[in-house]
Amino acid sequence: MSQEGVTTCSGVVSWENSAATFVPLVDSRLLNRCKKFGILLDCGTCSRQEIPFKMNTGPVPAAAQARFGTLVMVQLPITPMQPWFRTIRDLTAPFRWSDLFENPGPVELDIGAGRGLFTLNAALTHPDRNILAVEIDYREGRRAAERLKKRDLANARVIGGDVMVLLADVIPENSVDATHVYFPDPWWKPRHHKRRLFDTHFCDLLARVLKPGGQVHHWTDVADYFQMVTAAMDSHPEFSRSSAPEEREPEHDMDYQTSFERKKRKMGFPIYRALWQRH
Ligand SMILES: C[S@@+](CC[C@H](N)C(=O)[O-])C[C@H]1O[C@@H](n2cnc3c(N)ncnc32)[C@H](O)[C@@H]1O
Repeated sequence: MSQEGVTTCSGVVSWENSAATFVPLVDSRLLNRCKKFGILLDCGTCSRQEIPFKMNTGPVPAAAQARFGTLVMVQLPITPMQPWFRTIRDLTAPFRWSDLFENPGPVELDIGAGRGLFTLNAALTHPDRNILAVEIDYREGRRAAERLKKRDLANARVIGGDVMVLLADVIPENSVDATHVYFPDPWWKPRHHKRRLFDTHFCDLLARVLKPGGQVHHWTDVADYFQMVTAAMDSHPEFSRSSAPEEREPEHDMDYQTSFERKKRKMGFPIYRALWQRH
């Protein structure tokens, strides 16, 4: 299971022709098959999301056997990365910021942090601030945490899990100084737009955790997503718009706000930036 310290990485073993092969759940087709047949699932590193642990107690369905042979769950140890990386389940209730940071200074959230370039640079530039990266993809979150661990940073941490859970149920109200939402997944197809993270409910949750005067920074290269976000935030009773930062020339490859900003600017895409303040 994914509790830090006893963390394991789940996958499946496929026995074909008596040879056992470990298959981590990175193959989405295999993942979907296993989900469908209820064979596993909990993954600390491989899966894109935390999936409730589930094991098939009955016989493996014939269709799954035909494709994969016999599937069983295995768990492999992975390196514990506390205190730089924890999952939501590792947190104890009631959560207090002092559980993560010794410094009682301001707290900022890097939401959907990816590999954590913003978190790293912000923590190095502002040692007085505490930066919490939240990333649903544990593999990416661990990469971000590795960068922080290398520099032994005490003012930056990564939480693996769904930010909606953290914002709604874990983080105390009026306790965050700034939130950064950079290049959230665009979910391009119109029928998938409902999966986009930044919607009116998300705005309400940001308002819940931010202190009065707290900031929401949002950057994206996706014009219609940006319009959707600005419409929701501009009409939200708790927020008013401030002027966004101007684009500036990076001095080197790590001098971008995030990895996605670097990627998109190098591809020549315009970047839309906005900033709001909570009343
Ligand atoms: C397009 S990437 C951008 C990463 C980074 N902010 C950047 O600009 O380089 C979006 C990230 O948000 C993460 N994400 C999506 N939904 C999330 C959620 N509900 N909670 C936490 N992270 C989430 C994804 O796993 C992905 O790493």
